[in-house]
Amino acid sequence: MNSEHSSKKYTITAALPYANGPVHIGHLAGVYVPADIYVRYLRSNNKDVAFICGSDEHGVPITIRAKKEGVTPQQVVDKYHGIIQQAFSDFGIDFDIYSRTSSDTHKATASDFFKNLYASDKFVEQTSEQYFDVASNQFLADRYITGTCPKCHHEDAYGDQCENCGSTLSPTELINPKSALSGEPPVLKETKHWYLPLDQHEAWLKDWIVKGHKEDWKANVYGQCKSWIDQGLNPRAVTRDLNWGVPVPVKGAEGKVLYVWFDAPIGYISATKDWAEQTGKNWKDYWQNENTELVHFIGKDNIVFHCIIFPAMLKAHGDYVLPTQVPANEFLNLEGNKISTSKNWAVWLHEYLEEFPNQQDVLRYTLCANAPESKDNDFTWKDFQARNNNELVAILGNFINRALVLTQKYFDNKVPQQGPLFDPDKEVLELLSQFPNKIAQSIEKYRFREALGYFMDLARLGNKYLADTEPWKVIKESEERVGTILNIALQIAASLQITGSPFLPFSMDKLKGLLNLGDFQWAEAGRSNLLPAGTQLTASSLLFTKIEDDLIEKQVKKLEDNKKANELANAKATPIKDTTQFDDFMKMDIRIGTILEAEKLKKSKKLLKLLIDTGLDQRTILSGIAEHFAPEDIIGQQVCVLANLAPRKMMGIESEGMVLMAEDADGALKFIQPGDKVQPGSTVS
Ligand code: 2FM
Ligand code: ZN
Repeated sequence: MNSEHSSKKYTITAALPYANGPVHIGHLAGVYVPADIYVRYLRSNNKDVAFICGSDEHGVPITIRAKKEGVTPQQVVDKYHGIIQQAFSDFGIDFDIYSRTSSDTHKATASDFFKNLYASDKFVEQTSEQYFDVASNQFLADRYITGTCPKCHHEDAYGDQCENCGSTLSPTELINPKSALSGEPPVLKETKHWYLPLDQHEAWLKDWIVKGHKEDWKANVYGQCKSWIDQGLNPRAVTRDLNWGVPVPVKGAEGKVLYVWFDAPIGYISATKDWAEQTGKNWKDYWQNENTELVHFIGKDNIVFHCIIFPAMLKAHGDYVLPTQVPANEFLNLEGNKISTSKNWAVWLHEYLEEFPNQQDVLRYTLCANAPESKDNDFTWKDFQARNNNELVAILGNFINRALVLTQKYFDNKVPQQGPLFDPDKEVLELLSQFPNKIAQSIEKYRFREALGYFMDLARLGNKYLADTEPWKVIKESEERVGTILNIALQIAASLQITGSPFLPFSMDKLKGLLNLGDFQWAEAGRSNLLPAGTQLTASSLLFTKIEDDLIEKQVKKLEDNKKANELANAKATPIKDTTQFDDFMKMDIRIGTILEAEKLKKSKKLLKLLIDTGLDQRTILSGIAEHFAPEDIIGQQVCVLANLAPRKMMGIESEGMVLMAEDADGALKFIQPGDKVQPGSTVS
């Protein structure tokens, strides 16, 4: 590893999303917005950064999706890689490269990495019994097997993880294991695999994490690692019996591939290689130099892989730096429920942009202001609206707009001169000068919510300064004084532009144009002379606009509709009743009748009194459908009537039969009707 002659590099990675579905707000809040803020901040400090991401295209989630959609795994990843890449780019997540683990560079890099460890005896080879699905003739790795979680007793835990309690599992730990392919209980069968002996890495991992990172890693990250280490580390298989992945590059491993969690983090390295190749850099500077800060932005379910397993792989290899920081976030919930792809309980990024075009920053802002940095948090559409209307519009947008509009009005849209300074001016300039550092310190501690809060405090300071100095009143007495006030307000706006860019890149780009501001580094923010007097400003246009209630209500309704549709699609039919005999069925006389009259019963919420022409007679039937149909809508409809049901008295009225209904899983009732009109009295059999 070399450390000479090279300046410090920053390798910032963001978890490689599985290319088995689009990305949603949970991904953005947990990983990509914080990573992007951090990188933009580093770049604004002129740091040498490689911001790395790409699609995770191997692993069982991809093959399961392919099977479900009836396509090949390659078709799945090709489709979602494009969709995900577009979503990140649309939201200004400014990776240096967005690569993919199906690339040739990646296959070669992952393969070489394995060969290196294999050649230097860093693996343990072991034959053991593993679950096998006889019907599908396949070993059941990871998500191919489900069962009850031994830790929390959640019934749908996967072979590698329980999504309910977050435990990392192995298939043999599951209670009542079932094949995800056939639904059948699996059998055990012998197979050979290669293991990374984490037990042999325990001592240095303990030293490195427990002694070395107790203070500087986030409490949630440190806590999870410590608990793993305290329980004792065990060897982990790094190969699988699957046919989708990077083939295991040694003899005797036919039909086996690298475990996705072995190859995926190597994806960070292969992506860096591709980027370096494209830009004329040396990838090793970003991975094999002691001066490198390696920071992994991830969600909490990825902690063990990035803090224990990948570092053990890097250490076993020997040429690589270890991560300095792993700022993992907790999870974001949505309207009080866990975000779920399978339940379609999510806000998908591509759909958000259809509803809120060009409003990427509003979502970035809300997700950062409410980021699940130290505990799970909730996204609600109401909060989203409030953040926009009460903060972005009313505080930040309002200040910028006032400064610009007043300059337009009194100074022909040119930055006025700063005249003699009075106490309020000196005070505000002093406070202004402290803000960039304050915001920076929070960003450097990965406290992005706090940093964003300070940034908004600067906008509040600007509003307060204008409210205190009242240039719209002073203009009657002294144009020079108003010039000073507006000059200072515009300097505040300039610093907002610089310090706000990592958080709100789209609006701050726009603000840069409005102010005609030069290119400034972070270190220059806070100064009182960023905008020279005489600078021509662009006519003001609003940075943020109010979001009305109807748009928000529409989003909430959409979520509920999605949920309902999903429940219906996944609803299991009620169990079948006991067998009935043909003769018993034939005793029932079912006829088609036409509803002639329908009226609500005063004393009942549920019953409608119907008069039905059965072809034999006109009779009264009471039917429990009042909550589902308006009487006037059903007159004339043809329905099935059980005509020889013994009459029953209800609410003092005799009901002579029963109208047959179909009932949805969500309780909605529909009539059973003939496809075309038939003669009343037609029999049903
Ligand atoms: O949890 C996930 O979505 C994984 N695809 C993250 C992989 S991160 C890295 F190691 F590649
Ligand atoms: Zn569990």
